[in-house]
Amino acid sequence: MLFKRIEEHLQSVVAELCPELDHRQVVVRKCPVPKFGDYQCNSILGLAKRNGSNPREVASKVVERFKVDDALCEAVDVAGPGFINFRLKVSALESVMSDPELAAHCFVKPVAEPRTVVVDFSSPNVAKPMHVGHIRSTNLGDSLCRILRYVGHSVISDNHIGDWGTQFGKLIVGWKNDLDPNALEMDALGEMERLYRMMNQRCDDDPAALDLARSELLKLQQGDEENLKIWHRMIELSRKQFDEIYSRLGVTFDETLGESHYNDRLSDLASSMESAGFAERSEGALVVFFPDDKELKDHPAMIQKSDGAANYTTTDLATLDYRRERWSPDEILYVTDGRQQLHFKQLFRAYSKWRPDDCPNLEHPWFGSIMGKDGKPFKTRSGEVIKLAGLLDEAEERARKIVEEKNPDLDEAQKAEISRIVGIGAIKYADLLPNRQSDYVFDWDTMLALKGNTSPYLQYAYTRIQGIFRKAGISAESIDLSGGIQLQTEEEIALAKHLINFPLILQLVLDEYRPNYLCTYLFELAGFLSRVYENCPILKATPGVRSSRLALVNQAGIVIRQGLDLLGIEVTDVM
Ligand code: ARG
Repeated sequence: MLFKRIEEHLQSVVAELCPELDHRQVVVRKCPVPKFGDYQCNSILGLAKRNGSNPREVASKVVERFKVDDALCEAVDVAGPGFINFRLKVSALESVMSDPELAAHCFVKPVAEPRTVVVDFSSPNVAKPMHVGHIRSTNLGDSLCRILRYVGHSVISDNHIGDWGTQFGKLIVGWKNDLDPNALEMDALGEMERLYRMMNQRCDDDPAALDLARSELLKLQQGDEENLKIWHRMIELSRKQFDEIYSRLGVTFDETLGESHYNDRLSDLASSMESAGFAERSEGALVVFFPDDKELKDHPAMIQKSDGAANYTTTDLATLDYRRERWSPDEILYVTDGRQQLHFKQLFRAYSKWRPDDCPNLEHPWFGSIMGKDGKPFKTRSGEVIKLAGLLDEAEERARKIVEEKNPDLDEAQKAEISRIVGIGAIKYADLLPNRQSDYVFDWDTMLALKGNTSPYLQYAYTRIQGIFRKAGISAESIDLSGGIQLQTEEEIALAKHLINFPLILQLVLDEYRPNYLCTYLFELAGFLSRVYENCPILKATPGVRSSRLALVNQAGIVIRQGLDLLGIEVTDVM
């Protein structure tokens, strides 16, 4: 893209004029203050300083040469202590905008060095309904997968289902004695949750009940046929319900492997870590210490309890090793809430200690909580966790009211489809819009508003573009673009400049695993588009201008649709 071309050109100038500086570290970014330019390079500053040269002098020298050679930029100025600002030539912008191949892929070129990335996300637990806490992991993880793939990486989405643990002892006792088959039929996860709660209470009150649960757990672990059968059934029923939700959300996984899948690796793993000297016995348990790590020196990781049982960390170590063997990933992302930060720090440190030469880049893009309007964690009125399925139903119902109001004449099937797209989109967007690390307040009215930074607003911006084409009576494919896109007004130029920055934003998202940058970008895009509508007649313009403007807004529509798709949100032609 243009900023890449500027960057490459700048690097070659630096390499030629100042071989003492590392030209690969020269990067070009969006200029933070538009009145100074479209792009900016502030790398000369640090590079020159470190080298003992005067940054302003170096920058001026570079700019002189850049000006002589380049057809991309209008004005290249040195500002402040040694920043370089670039303003694009409109002709360069027009030629990129008029290139059908670049435009079709929203100006994104596949990355030069594709990586293999495993994304571990969603990962709900068997026999527990998926709740609002899982939605953030699901949305974030799915969006990251989509963006990684779009720019050309090879992605494996992996749902690491919690299907093993001490809770199954209690669940099996409950299942054997108190199961309500009708309730199981109606809402399997609800019934299993009821059994679990009931048994939890019973075990708290009665030590004998706890003993029974423990012995059923042991039987399960030792391969008792009846208990295994019940356990398998619980997994099957849970997965069925999870899959219903994933299909409503449009989320897919390349792999779904429960924690239990790694069971037979656990004991070997613990003993091999012990014999290699990475783990040591401490009060009977097997522990990995991190004496040289400031953050972790007081937080050793336990990888085997004193009774010999494995835990969450052991399973995650085994999972990591399995993923390394199977896919040799360059990178693994774990998308969970912030409360698991210590766990992942320990896991990453322990693994890199154990496999220093084949440790992929491990990242934990964590997120904050969803709060109710009262500022407390989002719960039902009676204080229970909010289940995801009900939340999605409500989103569609509420969106339905908007559709009825705006477009009462649509037929039933259309209304249902649009309500689904708008309702689900609203929830996802509201979830992805805040910086992932901050908590946010769940508020129906804000997320479903047709004005403001919301998904319905962006979906509406998209339908408005389709409306223009309907009114013009032509399709986007039939626009006569023999004269290319010409950018005559300030508003058109501003919109085009924003459009070609799409790849830059995706890069920013992937640098920090923050899809919220894409939300902000799309919201700004809708703003630039409105300014074009306000100031540049489209259908009433002369034929050449009309074609050019139609092509420009069509391109805006393509980027909105693609951008929303990368957030996992659909669009509709009418709303
Ligand atoms: N099942 C866990 C939970 O609900 C999340 C698992 C995350 N992934 C992992 N490899 N530990 O909290």
